[in-house]
Amino acid sequence: MTLATPYAPGSEQWTDARLLYALEEVVEKELNRHLKIAKDWMPHEYVPWSDGRNFDGPLGGDPWEPEQSKVTDIGRIALVVNLLTEDNLPSYHHEIATLFGRDGAWGTWVHRWTAEEGRHGIVMRDYLLTSRAVDPVKLEEFRMAHMSEGFESDNRHSMLHSVAYVAFQELATRISHRNTGHQSGDPVCDRMLARIATDENLHMVFYRNLLRAAFELAPDQTMSAVRDVVVNFRMPGHGMPGFERAAAQMAIGGIYNLRIHHDDVLQPVLRHLKVMEIGGLGPEGLKAQEELGLYLDGLDGEARKLDERLAARRARIEARKAAAGA
Ligand SMILES: [Fe+2]
Ligand SMILES: [Fe+2]
Repeated sequence: MTLATPYAPGSEQWTDARLLYALEEVVEKELNRHLKIAKDWMPHEYVPWSDGRNFDGPLGGDPWEPEQSKVTDIGRIALVVNLLTEDNLPSYHHEIATLFGRDGAWGTWVHRWTAEEGRHGIVMRDYLLTSRAVDPVKLEEFRMAHMSEGFESDNRHSMLHSVAYVAFQELATRISHRNTGHQSGDPVCDRMLARIATDENLHMVFYRNLLRAAFELAPDQTMSAVRDVVVNFRMPGHGMPGFERAAAQMAIGGIYNLRIHHDDVLQPVLRHLKVMEIGGLGPEGLKAQEELGLYLDGLDGEARKLDERLAARRARIEARKAAAGA
């Protein structure tokens, strides 16, 4: 199906200020829809408090030891990456409040979103410390280092780029939390991360619907923004200590990798918005759509190579196990 757009070739470019104003009504509608379907939940209900005890230090409890952790090695790595990502909320708030503003429907969304995101860091940290899943000293040192760096959005120059980025990024976060829960080895952790993932999904839906409205208003500019964001996408936690190594382990462990990024994050948003089928574009939009298609084909190819490497790795490990057992 080809979707017609009211594009008029040669029409003037949309500035951020005009777009903010034109999208305010959509923001209000989406905000009300969000508030109606978002279920309130209590972070303290997801934490196994009775498993907790004092740590060493002023209270004279027991220091953390690796054997106390119930979660898998890959679960531990991913939990730290995901929590540190959530921890940088003050910087994310700053970035979106600067761009979207703190007034009207935009401002209400910015504050509500920030409050919901705040729950994620709270419940994850409470769970990790109570269950002694990770080294609390390392976790705090990482948090200090990561937050002290701050976070600057790659897309702060443009609100269309920012809306496009968060539509993909919220889904990426949802998938990362879900897969971490599945692989954590602890059903309590899995349940907590599933609850967070539900929030992230609603955030994605909000931004995805906003992106759809942007396509209707400014199809060429939105297509260019989506292309730029998809081609240059990187996770918000990229600046944290040891991110590259942790990301590589999460890729091997099937928590987040190119295949997942392509199949479970990029494609669902692009297909839902029928981005590759949007018609009536001007030269700028057409070029961006074509480049987006080429990039996705290339990414799929890269993901296939990764799939093969991971399958070969699994086969080697199985063979080694079988030889050791023989
Ligand atoms: Fe979150
Ligand atoms: Fe979110």
